[in-house]
Amino acid sequence: MRLQLATWPEVEAYLGTRDGIAIPLGSTEQHGPNGLVGTDALCAEQVAWHGAQSVVAAGRKILVAPTQALTPAQFNLAFPGTISLSASTFAQVLEDMVRSLARSGFRRFYFLNGHGANVAVTRAAIHDLHLRRSINAQPEFASLQFRFRSWWDYAQTNSLRAQLYGEAEGMHATPSEVAITQAMVNRSAPTVENMAFEPLSTEFFVSHAGDNHNDAQTHREVFADGRVGSDPSLADPAHGRRLLDTAAKEFADDFLAFTSDQEN
Ligand code: NI
Repeated sequence: MRLQLATWPEVEAYLGTRDGIAIPLGSTEQHGPNGLVGTDALCAEQVAWHGAQSVVAAGRKILVAPTQALTPAQFNLAFPGTISLSASTFAQVLEDMVRSLARSGFRRFYFLNGHGANVAVTRAAIHDLHLRRSINAQPEFASLQFRFRSWWDYAQTNSLRAQLYGEAEGMHATPSEVAITQAMVNRSAPTVENMAFEPLSTEFFVSHAGDNHNDAQTHREVFADGRVGSDPSLADPAHGRRLLDTAAKEFADDFLAFTSDQEN
C-alpha cells in the first residue's frame, strides 16, 4: 500500500502490527539524450510499488512513502531540467522524514535508492540519526532501524544488468534505468542514432563511485551528451520489464527479511 493512497485510520491500523516503511529515493536530473529527467525517481518508485504488490499478494503488509525526487545532483546542473539539493539540505530532509514517521510509530526505515549521489549522504544521515541516540540517549531515536539498498545492487538484478549490457551499462544514463522507464512510462522514447560508446576504466569506476563527480561545467565539457560511459541506445522496454520484475522481487524479499519478526 502506498502511504499517499492510505487514510490515517488505515495507517494507524497498519502500525498496530507493523512498524516498517519503504522510502524510494531518486533524483531530478538529466539522463543522457534519450533518458528522462525523472529516471532515478521513476525507477526507485516502480521497483518499490511493484515489490509492494508482491508483498501484498503474499498476504503480507507494507507501506511505501512518497518518493523523494529532489536530491543532490550538482554535477548535472549544466544540463537543463536538473534540480539539485545541497547535501546538507537532503540530509535534513531525510532526518525530518524519519522523525515525522517515527512520531507516528514507524521504527524501521528501508531506503530504496535509485541515484548514486544519494549513497554517501543517506549513509551520513543514518549515521547522524544513530549518533543522536548514541551520544545523547535521546529516547525519540530509540530502536530506530535503517536499511539502505540501491536497486541495481540486488544480486540477481546486477547479474541481469551485466548479462544484458556488459560494460555498456556504464555509470550514468545506463541502458538498465532507461529500459525500466521505457517499460513503465507511457510516452514514446526518443531514439538517438549512432551513439558512440567509450568504456570507462576501472580506475574511473573506483574514483567516481557514488556519482563523485566534478563541478557542473567541467562535467558537461567532459560528458557532452550527459551519459557517463554508457550506451542507452541498447535500452529496450522488454529488458526494462525483466529488470523491474527482478528488482521488485528482490526488494520485496529484502523488505520482508528486514521486518521478518512481524510476520504472521
Ligand atoms: Ni540514474
